[in-house]
Parts: sequence; structure tokens; C-alpha cells
Amino acid sequence: MTQKLAVVILAAGQGTRMKSTTPKVLHRIGGKALISHVLDTAAGLQPETVIAVVRHERERVAQAILDHAPHTVIVDQDEVPGTGRAVEQAIAALPADFDGSIVVLSGDAPLIDVPTLERLVAGHVEGQRGMTLLSAIFDNPTGLGRILRESSGAMVGIVEEKDASDAQRKITEINGGIYVFAKAALSRALDEIDTNNAQAEKYLTDAAARILAVGGIVDAVATDDPWLIAGVNDRTQLAEAGRELNHRIVLAHQRAGVTIVDPSSTWIDADVSIESDVEILPGTYLRGATSIATGAIVGPDTTLVDCEVGENAHIRRSEATLAVFGAGAEVGPFSFIRPGTELGAAGKIGAFVEAKNAKIGDSSKVPHLSYVGDVTIGEGSNIGAGTIVANYDGVNKHHSTVGDAVRIGSKNVLISPVTIEDGAYTAAGTVVRKDVPSGSLAMNVAPQRNLEGWVAENRPGTSSAQAAEQGRE
Ligand code: UD1
Ligand code: CA
Repeated sequence: MTQKLAVVILAAGQGTRMKSTTPKVLHRIGGKALISHVLDTAAGLQPETVIAVVRHERERVAQAILDHAPHTVIVDQDEVPGTGRAVEQAIAALPADFDGSIVVLSGDAPLIDVPTLERLVAGHVEGQRGMTLLSAIFDNPTGLGRILRESSGAMVGIVEEKDASDAQRKITEINGGIYVFAKAALSRALDEIDTNNAQAEKYLTDAAARILAVGGIVDAVATDDPWLIAGVNDRTQLAEAGRELNHRIVLAHQRAGVTIVDPSSTWIDADVSIESDVEILPGTYLRGATSIATGAIVGPDTTLVDCEVGENAHIRRSEATLAVFGAGAEVGPFSFIRPGTELGAAGKIGAFVEAKNAKIGDSSKVPHLSYVGDVTIGEGSNIGAGTIVANYDGVNKHHSTVGDAVRIGSKNVLISPVTIEDGAYTAAGTVVRKDVPSGSLAMNVAPQRNLEGWVAENRPGTSSAQAAEQGRE
């Protein structure tokens, strides 16, 4: 059965309870805006068209939508308020001959998922309904629309809290605000809906009674998963939805074979990919488009933003952004790795090392206490402890190159731009200002001189002088 599908996402509302200069639907959980989650779910239904209705902060919201999902049709809601008006204007943007199903989602309800919507649409089509909505049973239904049913159980309408009688307010089955409509039934209903209610709005929910009145079929399908319909209206709900999303993401990775030692301290963004047999240790935050290949161990206490981690790599107690780590690479503890860093297979960025835009070849190591910025290092080289690549002359940044199998001594300063060719050595403490040819040893310290008796003469009476005196006896 091929049934044409359009998705309408409502995002015109103001979201005042966020108390924010950022429009509500642009607040983020799981690494992306609320509306982006809804756009991704909409795309998962493979509809012909996705229409987003905007009004409040129109420019920012529309731009964010188009940045995330460029084919979205943006529709502006006029001054007539209400969800019914929003949908009415949205469907006016559909081709005149569109006669399929219309899924209506809310830009501030990010946890709805594709399988649930697919089931809702399938039931809707099979039942030849004019309207199908997702409902839920809430112990505390305050603020939400209530599903009205007659004694037979048949649905007869929806009443908004502000318009409900005391008896109706006791109803615990609520409207989740997620719908499927038949196009013709919806258009006809919206033509008839007025703003004659407590909020003087054009209610989408009034479509239920209108469709029933002309002999159409309407039903509410209750879900036992209240998170699917949870809307975000304030910062508390934002955090709750974020935590629940994280819980679901962690669970999905665990089911796919990832060991996550402590789900409660592990945060994984929605678009992170992790292969099976990866181990995530406590306190780990995986963000953005990070990907982790099989056998890798990440954590504890590690943040990776948009990083690529190779097979069997091990990254502990470190923070990295836009970096690539090769197979079997070792990172940390306490490494700070900034954009553009690429560590080759079996390479090492060790304790208290900062790297930025550093291309470090296979099996090369920067093991301790170094800064490597704007540098290309070949394969099998070792950078001695405490080495600094001085890439900044106070005005411009410069790039240095280190060849293959180079041995940089401890505590070198490489004054960029400089090249150290393949197989060269530098002595400890060298300030490398000139290129070092292949196979040479560079050093610039004067030979060591020992001035005998210097302490006794210049620091008489000190503990050092006494120790020296005793040592001589
Ligand atoms: C609506 C339902 C209510 C349901 C609840 C579920 C109506 C009349 N009521 O309540 O039965 O229980 O959702 O959360 O539909 N929006 C627009 N344009 C508008 C008004 C709203 O685009 O003029 C958007 C909002 O940005 C939001 C969504 O529609 O994304 C729902 O609006 P909201 O005001 O949050 O829901 P309610 O009207 O309170
Ligand atoms: Ca409202």
C-alpha cells in the first residue's frame, strides 16, 4: 500500500515559560535543537513534504529549520491564534491534488519516534479514519486536552482544560498533541472551526467533533509511554526530556553491544555512532558526530566532540574536539586535544599534552607535558617530555614539520616555522630555530662547565654549602 504522506510541524508558539532569548524549539537536548529531533523523526517517515509553521522569532526558527533540513517548507502563521489555524495554513501549502495522510507533530515534543508514528499512520489508514491521535493516561492531566468518550468507549471529541467542566477535568486520558489526519476530512473540519472558546483560538482539537459530525471516523490510540508525547515548556522539562533521551540512547547502544559501565554518568548525543564491543567508562560525554570503532575504550571522565576514534584506541581522562585517533592510539590521561589533530595508528598523545592542528603519524608519540600546535609529525617519531612547538610569533601562527623516526630530546622548543628531517635527533633542551637535516644531531647549549667551589664562595653558610662541605670529607 502506498499512501502519500505529509508532515506538519507546529513551531509558531512563543514558549514564554523558558524565560529565554532563544526560541523554545531551538533549545537543545542530545546535541541538537528540539525542532531538529522532530525534523529527523519526520524525515524518518519518508514523507513527500515536511511543512513547518513558524511565527514567534520567525527568522531564527526558520533559519535553524532550513539549516538542519533544507527541503522543509516554511509557512508563516498569521495573527489568528491556535493550533487549528497553524495547520490550516500549513495544508494550504500542499499541492491542490494532495489527498494522502497528514501527520501533525509539535516542535517542542522531541521524543516521538518513527516506529510509533508508523504504527499510528498504519492504524489510521487501515481504520479509514479521518483523524487518529496519540493519547495517554495521566494521573495528573492538568493543562492538557481531555479525550471525551461515550459509555461504549467510542471517542466523541476533545475538550481543552480551559473549556472543560469539572466532570470533564477528571478524565485522565489526555490528548498527546500528535495526530494523523486524512487530508479531505481535515480541510473540511478546519473550514468550519471557529475561535469561540475560552482562549479565543482556532483549536485543532475541534476537528474531532467536526469530523464525527459528518460521519467520519475518529479515534485516540493510547500509548503507555508518556515520554513519546512529552512537551518541553520550561527548563525543568528540558532537563527531564534530555535525561530521558540520553537514557534511551544509552539503552540502544547497550542493546547493540556497547559496554556502558555507568549509564547515569554517561551522556551520549543523538548522532554519535558506536560500534559493538566498545567500552565506555563513567563520566564520559560523547558529543556531536563522534564515532567510535570496535574495541576502543573511552573514559573515565572524557569528553569527545565530533571526534573519530579508531579500533582498539584507548582514550582516558581527556577532552578532544574535531580530532581523529587512529587504530590502537593511546590518549591521556589529561590530554587537551583541539580541532584538526590527527593521531596515527598506535600513536600516543600522553599525560598533560595539548595538541592543536597536529598531524601525528603512525606510531609517533608525544608522551608527556608538551604543546604541539600547527605541526606535522611523521611516523615512528618521539617528542621528548616538555617539548613546546612555539607556533605563534605574537602576530601570526606558523607551521613546523618533523619527519619520520625523529628523536626530539626533552624540553625542546621548536620555533616555527622549522623542519626537522627524517631520522634527525635533537639534544635535550634544544631551541630549534634552524632546520635540522636528515640524520643530524642538533644542539645549541654551550658545553657544560662546572665551577668548583662556587657554592662555598657564593652561598656560604647555606644548607647546600654545608652538604657540599660534608660530601667533601
Ligand atoms: C495542545 C492541544 C491539547 C494537547 C496539548 C498536548 C490544542 C487546542 N490543544 O495544547 O489538547 O493536550 O497540545 O501538548 O491544540 N502552536 C502553533 N501556533 C499556535 C499555537 C500553538 O504553531 O497558534 C504550536 C506550539 O508552538 C506548539 C504546539 O503548537 O508546538 C502546541 O501548542 P501548545 O500551546 O503548546 O499546546 P496547547 O494549545 O496548550
Ligand atoms: Ca495554547
